Parts: sequence; C-alpha cells; structure tokens
Amino acid sequence: MGRLFIFEHGVYVMQEKIKNIKTLAELQALYAEVFGKNGTMTAKLKQMKDLDNDARAALNRENMELRELFKTRQAEIETAVMMAALESQRLDVSLNPLPENRGTIHPLTQSLSDIAIILESFGYEMWTGPEIEDDWHNFTALNTPEYHPARDMQDSFFLENGNVMRTQTSAIQIRSMEKTGAPIKMFGIGATYRKEMDATHSPMFHQIEGLYIDKNITMSDLIADVREFLKRFFEMDDIKLRIRPSYFPFTEPSIEIDMMWRDNKWLEIMGAGMVHPNVLRNCNINPDEYQGFAFGFGWDRLAMLKYGLNDIRQFYDGDVRWLRATGF
Ligand code: PHE
Repeated sequence: MGRLFIFEHGVYVMQEKIKNIKTLAELQALYAEVFGKNGTMTAKLKQMKDLDNDARAALNRENMELRELFKTRQAEIETAVMMAALESQRLDVSLNPLPENRGTIHPLTQSLSDIAIILESFGYEMWTGPEIEDDWHNFTALNTPEYHPARDMQDSFFLENGNVMRTQTSAIQIRSMEKTGAPIKMFGIGATYRKEMDATHSPMFHQIEGLYIDKNITMSDLIADVREFLKRFFEMDDIKLRIRPSYFPFTEPSIEIDMMWRDNKWLEIMGAGMVHPNVLRNCNINPDEYQGFAFGFGWDRLAMLKYGLNDIRQFYDGDVRWLRATGF
C-alpha cells in the first residue's frame, strides 16, 4: 500500500520548512505549531481512534519522522551556533610570534664526533680518564722522572696532596695499557690543564691522543694513520706533511708533524713517536715483544683550524651569539 499523507502539508513540505529555519527560537515556534497543545499533529493524534489500521500506522510514522526532523535540525543549529562562537573567539596564532631560539652544537662537540668517527673506523677505541691525575700516570709512568725538565716545561697546576690537573691525555694511554695490556689500539680524549693563557692558549684545553701497540708496528704505520686521519678530518683530497725530529720523554724517536695549510704555510699539528720501551715496561708490556706508536694533538686547535676560528677562549665563553655565528 502506498504512503498515506494524513498530515496536511505532508512530511516533505514540513521537511523543507524545517531545513530553512536558522534559529532555535524559530524552530521552537514551529515545533509548537505542530506538537503544541493546539498543534496540528496533536489534533491529528487526537483523532487516531477514528482511523483504520493503515491510516493509523501512517500517522504514527509521520509523527515519528517529524519529531526526528526537528531533533536533527536542532542539533544542526546548536552546532552552527557553537562553531560561530568558536570562530569569533579564535586565537590568531600568527600574531606576535616569539623569536625562535634554538640550541646549536658546540664546535668542540662537533669536532669530537668527526674525530671519533674517523679514528673508530681505523679500529681505535675511545677512552677517557680522570682530570685530576696522580704523579705516576701524568709523569712517572710516562718516563718523566722528578728531576726531568719536562715537568717544569709543562707549567702544571699541582694540588696540595701532590696530585696534578692532568697536563696531557698521555696519562690515559698509561691507564689503558695498565688495564688491557698489549695489543691495544685506543685513543684518549679529554680536558687538559696548563698555566698559560692567550688567544691560542687556554688554561683548560682539550687533547686527543692515539696509541697503537702490537707486534711489528712501525713509524710508517704511524704516519699512514695520521695522514689518512688529517685528510678525512679536513676533507682534503691530498695533504702535504712535514716530519721533524722532536723530543718527548715517553717516545723514542719523537717527531713533530706539520701540515701544509691552504695558504701554503706549514702548521704544527701534532706530536708523536714510537712509545719508549720504559713506558711499555711501566705498564707491564714486554718491549722486546711489543712496540707501537702514540700521537697527540690539541683537539681545540684542530677544531679552530677546521672551522676558521681564531680565539680559543671563545670555546669556553658560553656566548650564544658566538656559537650561533659558528653556524652549527
Ligand atoms: N703529550 C704530548 C703533548 O702534550 C703530545 C704527544 C702525545 C707526543 C703522544 C707524543 C706522543 O705535547
């Protein structure tokens, strides 16, 4: 049986009307017209008892559909009202933005990571050690007896108990050899302290020191590793090195390695040499069986060269403007 339109305008007409209503007040007024005490639907429902079954079912259906239409429209209007309120109270987040203040990587941190990646790829293992050292690790085990002029040369900060602020990361090579013996391939990193202060010297600075002890290690191995390391660190296709004889109590022979810089000037880069047999003996390594080399350099100095910085003290000033200007 087809649909019976009991309600005088039909559900579809009412549907149009309801859809066009924009405010809750108007909707309530229309609702009263239909479902109120004298409402049109209320009147129809009162006559329900006079209808046959089909007409009754149709009226019921229309009654329900109409109520549903009002309910849906009410929800729609309420949502629209809320959205309008939100829109009018909206925060304009593009207004007055705070200046962006991001951290930067410190050039020392960056250079350590560059250095460590290269040395570790050569098989060197990274070590650290205490900054307050005893006489043994900083001097004596490094073949630097008490009367040795090197102790004056280094102008150290001594503590009252006879300990010393580590003057060189060479102390870490002693600790590593004492601990693991030979063979060993390590590099020590850390802060070092000496009484000096100008644009290229700071009382606290950093060193990195490589050590490779095994059977049949020679000076050629040392120079090969240093050359490859410097090439990669400075990202140069080729580098020119100059090897000069030098003196350190803990290496024999000792050398100093210079590197030809971009402006064709020689730059002193690092000290190095074959580890002195006394040093090996001091770490319970038999020098007739094992030998090897050590090299040490100023990590700050290498970073200054790589990034074109000219005052070592800036590394420690904590000046954010300078850090930002270094561009990391
Ligand atoms: N420890 C030396 C210095 O501070 C550098 C060095 C390290 C030299 C290892 C030779 C071998 O000057």
